[in-house]
Parts: sequence; C-alpha cells; structure tokens
Amino acid sequence: MKLWGGRFTKETNELVHNFNASISYDQKFYKQDILGSMAHVTMLEKQGILTSEEKDVIVEGLQGILSDIENGTLPITGEHEDIHSFVEANLIERIGEPGKKLHTGRSRNDQVALDMKLYTRDEIVAVNDLLKELMLVIHRIMSENTETYMPGFTHLQKAQPVTLAHHFGAYFEMFRRDRSRLRDIYDRMNYCPLGAGALAGTTYPLDRDYTASLLKFDGPTLNSMDSVSDRDYLIELLSAMSTIMMHMSRFCEEIILWNSNEYRFVEIDDSYSTGSSIMPQKKNPDIAELVRGKTGRVYGALISLLTTMKGLPLAYNKDMQEDKELTFDAIDTVKGCLALFTGMIDTMKFHPEIMADSARHGFTNATDAADYLVNHGVPFRDAHGIIGQLVLLCIEKGISLDELPLEEYRKISPVFEDDIYEAISMKTCVEKRNTIGAPGRKAMAQIIAANEKYLEES
Ligand code: ARG
Repeated sequence: MKLWGGRFTKETNELVHNFNASISYDQKFYKQDILGSMAHVTMLEKQGILTSEEKDVIVEGLQGILSDIENGTLPITGEHEDIHSFVEANLIERIGEPGKKLHTGRSRNDQVALDMKLYTRDEIVAVNDLLKELMLVIHRIMSENTETYMPGFTHLQKAQPVTLAHHFGAYFEMFRRDRSRLRDIYDRMNYCPLGAGALAGTTYPLDRDYTASLLKFDGPTLNSMDSVSDRDYLIELLSAMSTIMMHMSRFCEEIILWNSNEYRFVEIDDSYSTGSSIMPQKKNPDIAELVRGKTGRVYGALISLLTTMKGLPLAYNKDMQEDKELTFDAIDTVKGCLALFTGMIDTMKFHPEIMADSARHGFTNATDAADYLVNHGVPFRDAHGIIGQLVLLCIEKGISLDELPLEEYRKISPVFEDDIYEAISMKTCVEKRNTIGAPGRKAMAQIIAANEKYLEES
C-alpha cells in the first residue's frame, strides 16, 4: 500500500520503486517507529483529537504488530516503501478505520527524524557500555603492570623507559574522552522533533511537550523546519565513532607490532588469531588488522554524510534518506570492533622480560645518565655531550649503558662513581618520575585509584 497514491494516475515504475524504497534498511528501527506512534496517539487522545477508544484500539494494534514482528510471525516485506508505510498499512489491515487516524498531525518527515533519534540514542548507550567494558580490561591490565618496564617511543625510536600500566593508561584517557563525547552528543540531540509535521508544524493543537516527555526527551525541538532537516547530531555521532575507531586502530597498530617476531612484547591468544593456508608456522593478528582496516569505512560514513548534507536547501529532501545505511553500518562496525578488541586484549599474554630487555638495550636510560651528571654539578648541555659519547662507545661495543665498565665511564668524565648503575636502572628511571601523569609507581597508583572511582561512578 502507498501512503500517497491519491494524486497519481499511473503506477510507479518498478525501478523507481526499488530506487526510492528504504524498507530494506529502515526496518532496523521498527521498534522505535512503533513506540513513537504509541506516544503520538497517546498525545492525540489527551488533546481530544482522538477518542480514548480510538487510541486504545490503535495502541493495541501497534502492540500486536510489535510482538508479531519480534516473534517472527510478521515478516517485514519489500513491497512497502519504508517501515512507516509498513506499520501503518498493517495497522489498518488489523483494526480498520481507527488505523487511518494514526498519521493525524504527523508527516513522515518528523516521524523519520524521531525514529532515527530514538534509534541512535539507544545505540549511543550501547556503544558507551562497550567502551566501559574495554576500559575495565585496560584498568585490570594497568593495575597488574605498574612495574612492567618497557621502552616508551618517540618517532618509533626507543626514548625513555615507561611501564605497561603507563602505556595502557594513555588509551584509558582516550576512551574516557570518547565516552564523554558520546554524553555531550546525547545531551545536545535529546530534543523531540515529533510535531514538526512536514516542515511547518500542524494546525492541530498538539502538545509537543507531552510527546517529548513520553519519549524521555528533554523537550521538543524549537524550529519545525530545522526539526525535519537537522542531521548535525548524526554527523557529530559519526565523528565520535570515527575517533573511537582511530583510537582502536592506533592501539591495534601497536599490538600488531608488539606481537611481531621482532618485538615479541605480547602474544595474541590462539582464539583471537588466524593461520595461513600455505605457511604452517604462521599465527596472524587478523583481528587487530581488521579493526584497523574497518576504521576507513567509518571515516567514509562521516565524509559521505557531510557531503550529502552540504548543498541541501531547507527543509526535508530525500537525499537525507542516505543517512540511514551509513549510520547503521558505522554503529554496527564500531560495536563489533569494540567487542572483539576487548576480548583480544583481555586474553593477550605479555612478556615482561622481553619488554624490559628491549628498554635496557635501547639506551632509554640515557636521559637519566645525563641527569646523574647534572646532579653532580655538570651543566646539562655538557652532560648531554658526555652521555652522547658514551652511547657511541656502547654502540661500537654492542652493549648497553649498564654493561659498560666504570673505568670507561671515568675515562670520559671522572664525575662517575659506582652508583651510576643504580641511577640508570630501569626501576630507578621509572620510579623517579612521579609528577602527575608520569609512569612512577606512586603517580600511577593515584591515577589507577582515580580510574577505579571513575569506572564505579560512570
Ligand atoms: N524514508 C524516508 C527517509 O528516510 C522517510 C521520509 C520520507 N519523506 C518524504 N517526504 N518522502 O528520509
């Protein structure tokens, strides 16, 4: 059944029907569509636009449709243009005349704006919960690894020693910001467009505040033209989704490196790895690579929607139908990746010895060796030069700074004493760094306690 056949004298061309139809994907929000309709008729009755009998019959009919879709007895079929037409046609089939009053004071333009908001609102909560699951795993790994030393890198060159807790703590911060972005988007989008009609409101005495409160919005939207043509919140959401993917992708890139034969800092569990069809020895980090790879398609959704929206005149235009597949795909991708990524790092094994060894053999303690000289009165620039010479010597000998004999140190500067070895041990290098946000155990303990509180409260 068409909602708009009246003024037409010809059948729609079949290709046109297929090109125009959105039911293959907007059926995803059948539930939100039905709940929105229930709230709409409840408001219509309160305003005396429907009788209470009419409202009851409609709500009961809608409830029947909802449960029949959910128990599989009512398949959503393709001859309808969209989910809105499907539900309305079914309602009229079930309850007859009163069903024809469902759409009073409403347009598909405000209806679809509502459905999409209700849908994405639920999904924001789901993504937020998945981020929390991930952060709980990161938190556990941090708590267990405040003395697991490893090299920190700049330019992918070993720089200064840090700990695994500190490195994972960086991601904890990123995902915390991601959750706070979702919160902001939720708060900004949470206004109800229903009642905006096609674009200019309606002549019926609708109570938009009431509909908004029934659907747990903070209030109604305030301009009916904006209400039906605003897709900013989806663009913000796709931007937040892209940022989550970017964070996961960076993390994946590191895990792929760390899991490689060259690094061997970690080993991804067999249950999260795959093999090669030809090379029997292989165990590949496909999941991390796929999460990194899928980042591109989420960015694609963001750029697509920005481009779709950029030339649209007010108010509704059919171009906006394109928001659905992009957003659904991006959200499903992020949810899938978050769940898999969390499982992957939760089951991953760390090799603390190899990490510490890598830090030791990468001169990550060179800054601390220079600081040793500074503490003995040598100006920093001179100290920098002296340690530079010692590093060069070590490179020639193929050893690390803590393997260089004291007499070699003293040949270059008599300031060095036996306590240099203690001063440049990984433990000392890390433990001395205790300003807020630094990797020292004391500093980390404070952050881990604060993170614990955050996870309990949010
Ligand atoms: N399927 C449409 C969409 O997603 C629903 C709104 C249709 N409105 C219209 N005026 N054709 O945008």
